[in-house]
Amino acid sequence: MTPDEYLGPLASVINAFADAPRDEGMQEEVWDASRLQERGDAVLQLMGLRSYTVTAVHDATGEMAAMTQLVVGPQTPQWGHQALTAVTRTHRGHRLGLLVKAAMLEWLATAEPQLEQVETGNAASNKHMIAVNEALGFEAALPAFHSCELGVADARGR
Ligand SMILES: CC(C)(COP(=O)(O)OP(=O)(O)OC[C@H]1O[C@@H](n2cnc3c(N)ncnc32)[C@H](O)[C@@H]1OP(=O)(O)O)[C@@H](O)C(=O)NCCC(=O)NCCS
Repeated sequence: MTPDEYLGPLASVINAFADAPRDEGMQEEVWDASRLQERGDAVLQLMGLRSYTVTAVHDATGEMAAMTQLVVGPQTPQWGHQALTAVTRTHRGHRLGLLVKAAMLEWLATAEPQLEQVETGNAASNKHMIAVNEALGFEAALPAFHSCELGVADARGR
């Protein structure tokens, strides 16, 4: 569970995900402390997932500048599922994305010693995230995916 004092700052960094390239028709998500508590942590707990978060805090201002999350599930504990990584706009360009992801892998080497593989996925156009992943040694495993949209009324009419 995210400690209460970090819910607001963490939600602000998660909102930096709005800058990730997304397919047409996909809405930007907006998070705040209460949404994070209710729909983030609670869902993970309900599903029995072990969720890890690493953040970077700016010394001078105390602002949370970067975060990354990774989830391990009870059924396939050898797999780590990379979730969101984000750096707030004002703190980009200092390799904080790479730093928090590398720190996460170091942490998991002791916290989840059975872990063998980590899977991640992001838009093929997200060159900044892909550069970080390649620097860490990730390799493309599947062809690029794309989103499809079907309106509820259209679906009902079929
Ligand atoms: C991907 C991301 C975390 C990388 O941030 P970062 O760690 O600060 O990136 P780096 O320090 O490696 O940046 C390398 C260069 O790319 C630039 N850059 C990084 N992200 C950028 C972005 N979203 N838009 C424009 N330029 C960006 C940096 O300014 C830097 O430029 P420089 O070499 O001229 O100084 C960041 O772009 C981000 O938060 N994007 C939105 C969230 C996202 O896409 N997450 C991935 C999907 S889960």
